[in-house]
Amino acid sequence: MTAFTKKLLRWYQAHGRKNLPWQKNQTAYRVWVSEIMLQQTQVSTVIDYYQRFMTSFPDVNTLATADQDQVLSHWAGLGYYSRARNLHKSAQIILEKFNAVFPSSLEDLVSLPGIGKSTAGAIRSFAFQQATPILDGNVKRVLTRFCAIEGFPGKPEIEKKLWQLAESFTPSNQFVSDYTQAIMDLGATLCTRTKPKCELCPVRADCLALKQNSVEKLPFKKPKKTIPTKQSYFIILLNHNNQVLLERRPELGIWGGLWSFPETEDLSQLPLRLNINANAIFQQLDPISHTFSHYKLLATPVIIRTQQQKTYCANLSNLTTWHCLSKDIEKGVPAPIKKLILKLQKNSLKTNDNQEQI
Ligand code: ADE
Repeated sequence: MTAFTKKLLRWYQAHGRKNLPWQKNQTAYRVWVSEIMLQQTQVSTVIDYYQRFMTSFPDVNTLATADQDQVLSHWAGLGYYSRARNLHKSAQIILEKFNAVFPSSLEDLVSLPGIGKSTAGAIRSFAFQQATPILDGNVKRVLTRFCAIEGFPGKPEIEKKLWQLAESFTPSNQFVSDYTQAIMDLGATLCTRTKPKCELCPVRADCLALKQNSVEKLPFKKPKKTIPTKQSYFIILLNHNNQVLLERRPELGIWGGLWSFPETEDLSQLPLRLNINANAIFQQLDPISHTFSHYKLLATPVIIRTQQQKTYCANLSNLTTWHCLSKDIEKGVPAPIKKLILKLQKNSLKTNDNQEQI
């Protein structure tokens, strides 16, 4: 065992996190769900979502046989929805291909959608006590600093070096689960991106970045690329029963499978697409801005009042439903759309005054 590993394990006994919900009754299923939720999301945000998810889907069978809609509604607000779709798909594969027995080999784990080498490593070490390295964002930060690795960690040659380091520090089976949690905790609590608490760090004596005074500049940032802005409109079709039309978005693309307002880039196409009167009165609200990984969306909500009550929007190819503004929404709805619905609810749109400002 390396000196780094020993010091980290000792530190973990005194300072590590040991009462997170996914650390109790560590089955592969529970660990897997937590690791997927914790990708790109902080522990404090995940805890409530995790507990609700586990109550509704306590095991892989329940998840595999649930409706996708039901799974997505448990993810609403967490973002990166492909994680939820992949969880659902993987549960079905585990049921069919692995007879409901959670796989434990690296090869089987990475064959499942949404599980990469690092998540597979975490599942193997926490649930199966198999000595397997992990390399998530926190671990990358700890290792690039401890070994003063320059260059962007997403670059293949840097990543390869980091995997080798991760492997060299990972202890044998008996200690791997504590070590894996320890290095994650060190990255999350002391070796933070900004304002790291080096004075409290258990491996400070041998940290090369600290010696070279380069802690704040490591790891190197991703080379900046500018992302384009896409403009569009969210169409809020509002009927006389205070209901708005929601459309299920196609599987592929952003917010796939979630419920949203029909979106269009071209308002002139609307009367045809929504089967409404070309002279309908429109009311525009302030644009909503939301940044995705590849572009920034600037969408203007447009309210159109309609007599329609049935779900017969013939020209919408996706599933649609009328949602009553006075009811809580139970479907999977992206966070910016949920916010917009709440705003509409608050401003009670029952009025017929088309000029009213929201
Ligand atoms: N981030 C990713 N996995 C984690 C875990 N098991 N505990 C805390 N933070 C994490």
